[in-house]
Amino acid sequence: MLEINNLSVEVGGKRILTNINLRVEMGYTHVLFGPNGAGKSALLMTIMGFSGYNAVEGEIIFKGEDITHMPVNERAKLGIGVMTQRPPNMTGIKLGEFVKLVSKKNINPEELAKPLDMIRFLDRDINVGFSGGEIKRSELLQLAAQKPDLYLLDEPESGVDLVSIEQIGSTIKKLLFGDATCAGERRKKGKSALIITHTGQILDYVEADKGYVLSNGMMLCTGNPRELLNQIKSKGYKGCIRCNREMS
Ligand SMILES: Nc1ncnc2c1ncn2[C@@H]1O[C@H](COP(=O)(O)OP(=O)(O)OP(=O)(O)O)[C@@H](O)[C@H]1O
Ligand SMILES: [Mg+2]
Repeated sequence: MLEINNLSVEVGGKRILTNINLRVEMGYTHVLFGPNGAGKSALLMTIMGFSGYNAVEGEIIFKGEDITHMPVNERAKLGIGVMTQRPPNMTGIKLGEFVKLVSKKNINPEELAKPLDMIRFLDRDINVGFSGGEIKRSELLQLAAQKPDLYLLDEPESGVDLVSIEQIGSTIKKLLFGDATCAGERRKKGKSALIITHTGQILDYVEADKGYVLSNGMMLCTGNPRELLNQIKSKGYKGCIRCNREMS
């Protein structure tokens, strides 16, 4: 579904990502680890096509189409959706109105908002005055309405209390896998995801197929997500850098 080949990205004239290669097949969920400032959010922003993230080398292919220089709204129409790390406040538009606007079918915003405990926020301006955890739920509600084929989720569990993590984790699981009980069924729904996580908490809800470690704008390694997480916990990112050096 998503294929990134030799991608290098500059922001404000500064090289942020170098020679990134990554594939997310249809129906697969991948997670991205990496220290602060590694370039994880920049990678998601570049895939989504936000302005200021300039792909100076390489290509991004989505559903067989080269989207490297495609505007953000066209990427959204093609089926890419993002939950950014720091979403903007949108004054003058109510969350409920927005949910109706971005949904492909005639949906009832209250029905979508209920599992995320967001009904009481539907008549408020988007994210204005929302707490950190409320913003995450608001963003996820907007994605649930949009129903993209590729979910780009930037730290969905960060700053979220234990009860809300359950709501967020279960909602993401439902969006990606429906009621699937095995890997084969999960694939059938055909939804893919690239999820940034520091803590790996999301892995308690969402079965991820592959993990990546990004450091200093470069992809260090790929592997089993839980094994990578345990390695990072025990040896830190320095261990990943050392390991990468030994492998190459
Ligand atoms: N407009 C900009 N001008 C210069 N540098 C920038 C700009 N935007 C981002 N950067 C730099 O790019 C690097 C990668 O940032 P990014 O937000 O992608 O990191 P991250 O891996 O998501 O980190 P975190 O885990 O803290 O969220 C950082 O060093 C950041 O300061
Ligand atoms: Mg980030």
